[in-house]
Amino acid sequence: MMIGVPREIKDGEMRVSLTPALCRRLTGLGAKVLVEKAAGANAGFTDAEYAAAGAVLVKSARAVWRQADLILKVKEPLASEYGLMKTGQGLFTYLHLAAGPELTRRLLQRRILGIAYETVEGADGALPLLKPMSHIAGRLSVQVGAFFLQSQNGGSGVLLGGIPGTLPGHVVVIGAGNSGAHAVQMAAGMGARVTVLDLDVRKLEALDTEYRGRVVTLYANPGNIEDVVARADLLVGAVLVPAARAPTVVTRKMVNTMRPGSVIVDIAIDQGGCIETIRPTSHHDPVYKEHGVVHYAVPNMPALVARTSTLGLTQATEPYLVMIASKGIEAALATHSGLAKGVNTRDGRVVNEAVSRAVGFES
Ligand SMILES: NC(=O)c1ccc[n+]([C@@H]2O[C@H](COP(=O)([O-])OP(=O)(O)OC[C@H]3O[C@@H](n4cnc5c(N)ncnc54)[C@H](O)[C@@H]3O)[C@@H](O)[C@H]2O)c1
Repeated sequence: MMIGVPREIKDGEMRVSLTPALCRRLTGLGAKVLVEKAAGANAGFTDAEYAAAGAVLVKSARAVWRQADLILKVKEPLASEYGLMKTGQGLFTYLHLAAGPELTRRLLQRRILGIAYETVEGADGALPLLKPMSHIAGRLSVQVGAFFLQSQNGGSGVLLGGIPGTLPGHVVVIGAGNSGAHAVQMAAGMGARVTVLDLDVRKLEALDTEYRGRVVTLYANPGNIEDVVARADLLVGAVLVPAARAPTVVTRKMVNTMRPGSVIVDIAIDQGGCIETIRPTSHHDPVYKEHGVVHYAVPNMPALVARTSTLGLTQATEPYLVMIASKGIEAALATHSGLAKGVNTRDGRVVNEAVSRAVGFES
């Protein structure tokens, strides 16, 4: 099997889908690995390291896409990559098709076997390939939010931890899953006042037990959300309905009640965002203001810490790639039902029901 690793081209994307260490493991299992030159450079991995791990380095992305049976990426293919896709090719990456009908159409046209990291399921129904990036995005959301709260960055000038004698900043996190819980951890660690909301009471119970009253937990009904959003210095959107478009949990009217210079970080933007006033931004142009509130909605936040993110992502993908390299793609899908849940497109059809509902293509 030929596994291809193109350089990532999304704005500000610095991660790579394969480390030299994982490359060595796959070539040891008999896979051929093609790596586009400099694919790992921004995450601190050199071409020489990949070559020493048995990869063949090629000059262009075109050469990778043309030859590989399976393209291994981090982010979804962009418009300039659509023409490179080879009919019937396997693609293993974050796809987030619920937010990308045009990409869906292209994958169907090329009959791509699209396996989405974000819908691969663990034995417990959890999402093991989304989890490490959610942890990173959750932790970053507070770091990034604190930066944009600074006066010179257009923020209200609130120091999240405050100082003795002043009120600490108020961080409101909606969604207490993988990203939300890590946002809570960072915010509490910085000394902010923290309120976290979710519809899943078990998640709230777990955080209540962990923080012993240091963090306020609230059921995420519209009344509670409306009440706390108005008092938030930093609002973090961290909800997920797997594979579906994110539900709007914060309305424009609620955003309008926030103090000018307050900050919204909508982590859920890769699924369309959960704040009515949100639209995707990029690492080069990360924020805009609406109703006086700073909005940050970068869909690939983990690229900010490319080294940690690459190591976190590949430690999660490693068991699946080992399975694919050992057995072949189809046999791996046939024997691992959790990996099979990752298949979003096959033979010109959308085969994941939630994705199909979200993008309006029949499954
Ligand atoms: N922007 C980025 O760079 C980036 C990086 C990683 C993950 N993400 C995204 O972050 C989002 C969250 O991912 P996660 O791994 O934390 O998901 P998760 O499944 O671990 O947690 C989501 C939580 O949202 C809750 N929820 C669902 N609907 C809700 C509602 N209406 N109101 C309140 N809570 C609700 C769920 O009960 C769950 O606890 C996803 O869209 C994911 O793709 C974005």
